[in-house]
Amino acid sequence: MYQINENYLKLPGSYLFSTIAKKVAAFTDAHQGERVIRMGIGDVTKPLCPAVIQALHKAVDEMGEAETFRGYGPENGYAFLRDKMVEFDYKARGAEIRSDEIFISDGAKSDSGNIQEIFSLDSTVAVCDPVYPVYLDTNVMAGRSGDYDAAKGIYAGITYLPCTAENDFTPAFPAGKAPDLIYLCSPNNPTGAVMRKEALQRWVDYANENGSVILFDAAYEAYITEADVPHTIYECEGARTCAIELRSFSKKAGFTGLRLGATVVPHDLRKKVKRADGTTEEVELHALWSRRHGTKFNGAPYIVQRAGEAVYSAEGQRETAEQVAYYMRNAHYMYETLKKAGFSVYGGVNAPYVWVKTPGDMTSWEFFDTLLEKAAVVGTPGSGFGPHGEHYFRFSAFGTYEDTVEAMARIQALQL
Ligand code: MLT
Repeated sequence: MYQINENYLKLPGSYLFSTIAKKVAAFTDAHQGERVIRMGIGDVTKPLCPAVIQALHKAVDEMGEAETFRGYGPENGYAFLRDKMVEFDYKARGAEIRSDEIFISDGAKSDSGNIQEIFSLDSTVAVCDPVYPVYLDTNVMAGRSGDYDAAKGIYAGITYLPCTAENDFTPAFPAGKAPDLIYLCSPNNPTGAVMRKEALQRWVDYANENGSVILFDAAYEAYITEADVPHTIYECEGARTCAIELRSFSKKAGFTGLRLGATVVPHDLRKKVKRADGTTEEVELHALWSRRHGTKFNGAPYIVQRAGEAVYSAEGQRETAEQVAYYMRNAHYMYETLKKAGFSVYGGVNAPYVWVKTPGDMTSWEFFDTLLEKAAVVGTPGSGFGPHGEHYFRFSAFGTYEDTVEAMARIQALQL
């Protein structure tokens, strides 16, 4: 008789954004003709920029000719893309990462969910609260979470690092024994807060002192506008011995539908292990991820990697920067309008998310329902990201400017 992985039963019935999509679908069914403005899931709306489209066309043509056709690519991704990342994402930031330390993938979501596989099942895990649900849910699936405490909205075996207005949404070290795995995301999803250089350096030092690994999600780095905010954790001294970085082309270049990301595992990240014969050996985490990647993944498509390469061309850099600026104009507009309307507003300066305190003592889901029912505006309830997200709400800046302006006007008209 087979058994199922009962860890799945500890999870909420559906993934946060699936729940929201269902609620919105029910609303649109019941209110035909009413135009819903979607500021929920952080999905881009601008089309791919011309430099990327040109590269895609060229790569498609190559795939149609015997001389230039490509089958399986190199396991870790094509060097033409990894080399560009080294130059633009690391060298230009004064960070030392080599081309063979980069693993190209189909996006940061899969990598951030899969990376936990290379760690033992009894590893302890810390996540920020609120948090991007993927880090937590995938550890629940793997069996590292312990039981769910429905009253508190937390898993007994997970260390939560509260990120609140009081601590500027920057996590403090947990009390007691240091967790083995620490997920950090800056600029943060969902709060839009950033870890400044000094704060991130403290976490790197903490991880090195305690033998922890930081899983650093840099998916939103293109949105940083302030100088003292690292674009990569490898700007911090010592990060090569304690950090894995997740990168994405989704938000920086609009690849949510194209799918491209990367995981960086430096060779200096090593763990001493005892073999069955009693000998000890230093194992590189790089070797484990390489083994996993080679076994379970056959590479991001050639044409998509060429599109990724084009992001680093002069035109690609200019055009994607324009897209980022467009979304940040939305973020700025939301931030200012909601503040004027009397809300406590956070984020939106170095991130495409604006994080808002709900009015009065409204819960996040009550505010969600009010906005949907009375203004036909969709956002994301903060409590969906963890218990410390309760009484907060996230607006995404990835819509059109016109929709952003209209959504803010509709919210103002509610006089909450
Ligand atoms: C979000 O809305 O939090 C993101 O779009 C989710 C993701 O990037 O997977």
